[in-house]
Amino acid sequence: MKIIRNIGDLVGIVPEGVARKVGPGMDEVETVSEAFVAIEGGLIRDFGPMSSCPEPAPEDEVIDAGGGMVMPMFCDSHTHICYAGSREREFIDKINGLSYEEIAARGGGILNSADLLHETSEDDLFRQTMERVDEMVAKGTGAIEIKSGYGLTTEDELKMLRVIKRVRETTPAIVRATFLGAHAVGRAYRGRQDEYVDLVADEMIPAVAAEGLADFVDVFCDEGFFTPGQTARILEAGLRRGLRPKIHANELACSGGVQVGVAFNALSVDHLERTTDSEIEALKGKETMPVMLPGSSFFLGMPYGRAKEYIKAGLGLALASDYNPGSSPSGDMRFVMALGCVKMRLTPNQAFNACTINGAYAMGISGIAGSITKGKRANLVVTKQLSSIASIAYSYQTPFIDRIII
Ligand code: NIG
Ligand code: FE
Repeated sequence: MKIIRNIGDLVGIVPEGVARKVGPGMDEVETVSEAFVAIEGGLIRDFGPMSSCPEPAPEDEVIDAGGGMVMPMFCDSHTHICYAGSREREFIDKINGLSYEEIAARGGGILNSADLLHETSEDDLFRQTMERVDEMVAKGTGAIEIKSGYGLTTEDELKMLRVIKRVRETTPAIVRATFLGAHAVGRAYRGRQDEYVDLVADEMIPAVAAEGLADFVDVFCDEGFFTPGQTARILEAGLRRGLRPKIHANELACSGGVQVGVAFNALSVDHLERTTDSEIEALKGKETMPVMLPGSSFFLGMPYGRAKEYIKAGLGLALASDYNPGSSPSGDMRFVMALGCVKMRLTPNQAFNACTINGAYAMGISGIAGSITKGKRANLVVTKQLSSIASIAYSYQTPFIDRIII
């Protein structure tokens, strides 16, 4: 057994069976002060006040938290970290005035990453992806969803998903894989978008499912990318093969993607930089989690999602990094939390829940991660001495991690 003693505040306690936080519950972070956590076989076995801390046996490992906080590691439910190289040239183009859409329309953007990935060996892609995973874990992320979508041919999509599988088998972090063949229309299909949709639905999805390489299916349902009709066709094909939908929607326009996602009982609908009230209405009472990605709003200079209004309407909300080479080249969930507070006016508690338990929900793992709950994975951050959760977002550049237990 491993026992963490002298914890100043043990935060993020969630009762067993609670899968996500919604509405007013998003502002609550259950805490025990002067606490301990006992870990066995990598799982949280017990926790509580120091007064009930078990006497360690000689074979137990004792960790003194020194009054620091202990929190569940962040759960990042939306990333594209399996990519080759970078897109620094486009970074300069954006500085010089081109928009994300303009770069994409010129055949750059995602298609540039697809070209690069095509030329990169599986081993090299694995090495580059693992570097990003290790960086994210060191910054406090213990669970990562990773999407394909820089292949855009059957062969290269499978290559990406095989790399993601290898990452999953290598890192101690929890990894979930999402098939995103409909991220853009592959170069060979330029001008033949419907044929590309057929390829995704009829060839790629069966191939991905046959190898058991993905947990979820995703579509970039947005202006200039895929329509709600095309999205429905792909989600249907995915569902038939046991892949639950997740959706990219409303990044560039109110695309109708949220409504399609909800109609197919998507686990999450992501981006939502643009929303009208009808998206909020569509999500009420549904299992679908809205996910906002303030890192891409920051990097692309786009509007931030109307997070407060979602919560006010009684919905839950998750935040994720969207770590990718085009719109968010960072996987720092602490920065995401800070953006949630500073730019979306979330309280630190709301941002914390959005980055932990609700992130876990949005990647289908809230039964095993995302909170301090008996039986869940003991993926924990032991922090330096902090006055409260707020200081994680407030002092957003000051190192706050003392050690990671994963
Ligand atoms: O979530 N919007 C679509 N996909 C990614 C960006 C991918 C890229 O530009 O490489 C996103 O922002
Ligand atoms: Fe994305």
